[in-house]
Amino acid sequence: EKDGYDYFMLKEIAEQPKAVADTLLGRIGTDGRLHLDEVRIPDQVLREIDKVVIIACGTSFHAAMIAKLAIEHWTRVPCEVELASEFRYRDPILDKQSLVVTISQSGETMDTLMAQRHAREQGAKVLAICNTNGSTMPREADAVLYTHAGPEVAVASTKAFLTQLVACYLVALYLGQVRGTKWGDEITEVIQQLAEMPKHVEKVLDTMGPVRDLARSLKDATSVLFLGRHVGYPVALEGALKLKELAYMHAEGFAAGELKHGPIALIEDGLPVVVVVPSPRGRSVLHDKIVSNIQEIRARGAKTIVIAEEGDEAVVPYADHLVRIPATPVLLQPLVATVPLQVFACELATAKGHEVDQPRNLAKSVTVE
Ligand code: M6R
Repeated sequence: EKDGYDYFMLKEIAEQPKAVADTLLGRIGTDGRLHLDEVRIPDQVLREIDKVVIIACGTSFHAAMIAKLAIEHWTRVPCEVELASEFRYRDPILDKQSLVVTISQSGETMDTLMAQRHAREQGAKVLAICNTNGSTMPREADAVLYTHAGPEVAVASTKAFLTQLVACYLVALYLGQVRGTKWGDEITEVIQQLAEMPKHVEKVLDTMGPVRDLARSLKDATSVLFLGRHVGYPVALEGALKLKELAYMHAEGFAAGELKHGPIALIEDGLPVVVVVPSPRGRSVLHDKIVSNIQEIRARGAKTIVIAEEGDEAVVPYADHLVRIPATPVLLQPLVATVPLQVFACELATAKGHEVDQPRNLAKSVTVE
């Protein structure tokens, strides 16, 4: 039931701190190390894999893009991501040293299921990250890591996405822990920080009033662009997907560095552009480059909606609207940066009078190829 919320989507957005906490529950030991025995892939197998391939669709694909960055950073194992619908038709190169990870809320998406079957036929080990107990993908996989988002009813995925991210971080950190990398200290530190994330997500949810006002004020916009870099790029894609499916608006996500290669021609007076700003700590080069992008688009008339960490003062002069998110380790930022984009899309769609939980032409689980 909706528990007093107007839509399941609103309820599911609000449930995110708990969903994130539940997905972490029992997986971080009192010794500060990860315990994923439930996955049942022997450590020896994890030590021997020489590449990871992640396959998913839609929002789950955006989680996969972020997982790639985390896996390659913490484990130095090469990782590819691919849309499930494209995967098996290109004759992918796989063998028994490949770890294939499928990500699916429903566990029934036909494109992902067929890709998973194809991977197993090639001899790859398959780990399914899934939210639905006993669904087809986890039943057929070699190993399973369940996300504990609870049932997601709204067609637009929200809490399942955040828990997929948590599961991906757990897999990346666990692989790093088992294989041993030069990032050992960072891994220990990030495991601790992960445990803090439910609190940070809660904090973002508590400050969404101005984002709702902004969304309503943009209900007659014809297009919204989203920019990001590194982990912020998939977040930008996710923000655009939410707006397409709920508000039926033209929305597009770009890697901010690509602006100058074409998309900047789209910028015109009054065009809303949402920018996800990387942490000024860590990858400060990326941060500075994105601040210049914000300057450039604003000089060309864009209405800039800037999502930036608390304490990041460099963005202030160029933000028409500033949305603050808590400071987190660089790779974990999507857990907080995505939330305002979900609220934005939900509110804008509501202002347009759309059926938020059941957008036109879409099904919760896409069981055809
Ligand atoms: O159940 P799955 O995670 O396999 O579903 C994949 C996509 O169909 C799904 O994420 C879709 O893009 C959502 N409607 C996005 O909000």
